[in-house]
Amino acid sequence: MTLNGEHPPPILELRSVEARYGMTTVLWDVNLEVPPASVVALLGPNGAGKTTLLRAASGLIPVAKGRVLLEGTDVTGLPMYRMARLGVCHIPEGRGVLPSLSVKENLILFSPKHKERECLERAAAAFPILGARLNQTAGSLSGGEQQMLAIVRAYLTNPRLVLVDEASMGLAPLVVDQIFEFLGRVAREGSSLLLVEQYIHRALAMSDRVYLLNHGRIVFCGPPSELEGEEIFERYLGIEATAGS
Ligand SMILES: Nc1ncnc2c1ncn2[C@@H]1O[C@H](COP(=O)(O)OP(=O)(O)OP(=O)(O)O)[C@@H](O)[C@H]1O
Ligand SMILES: [Mg+2]
Repeated sequence: MTLNGEHPPPILELRSVEARYGMTTVLWDVNLEVPPASVVALLGPNGAGKTTLLRAASGLIPVAKGRVLLEGTDVTGLPMYRMARLGVCHIPEGRGVLPSLSVKENLILFSPKHKERECLERAAAAFPILGARLNQTAGSLSGGEQQMLAIVRAYLTNPRLVLVDEASMGLAPLVVDQIFEFLGRVAREGSSLLLVEQYIHRALAMSDRVYLLNHGRIVFCGPPSELEGEEIFERYLGIEATAGS
């Protein structure tokens, strides 16, 4: 609550959002909120529309219907670069580093003006392996190092909202630990997170709220504790409630 007794608006709010690829509707009447200083998990089976929802939220694709609000301001229809300027950091599926540029160049690209040196130092402090590889091309990094480079962006610009699409995909368990630890730190430093994640239990463990998406519709919203052990877990995610950690 604010001093005058009002609740602050959510960092992100999707109201009755519909998204399409061509003539095919992929998201239907999606309502979703990411409250201030919170971590929200978005889970669902393959093809449910999770990536599409993040794309619609960050302006990478337009919404066909509905509204997108950022801290109460209607930002529907703003393209991704303008959303980025408003503090929305989208870390896409498949990493999104520029492979022919060096690690240093990739980092500088996402550093605020005149803060490049400071950003390089912060990135190297967060992931020392990146500090040791500044002059190497991003494409020659291992998968885990590329993911570190991709997500360290979430840290350099102090975004209001970080949308993370399957950051752990294809990575070794130890690297996944590092990535999750880092995401926890980003959240503790004040950014809100919307996480799409295949390691369901890890995502739930750090989330304040969870949404389940199935066939493009939200079928559950609540605290993770309400989801554990629920039949809905097996029905919509196709796994036993105790699996998937
Ligand atoms: N660029 C595109 N053009 C046309 N259809 C697409 C496009 N991207 C995704 N789709 C379709 O939209 C639906 C939702 O896809 P989306 O990638 O959002 O699902 P997802 O929940 O992220 O799946 P996964 O868990 O496999 O990553 C799928 O049926 C997919 O085939
Ligand atoms: Mg996806």
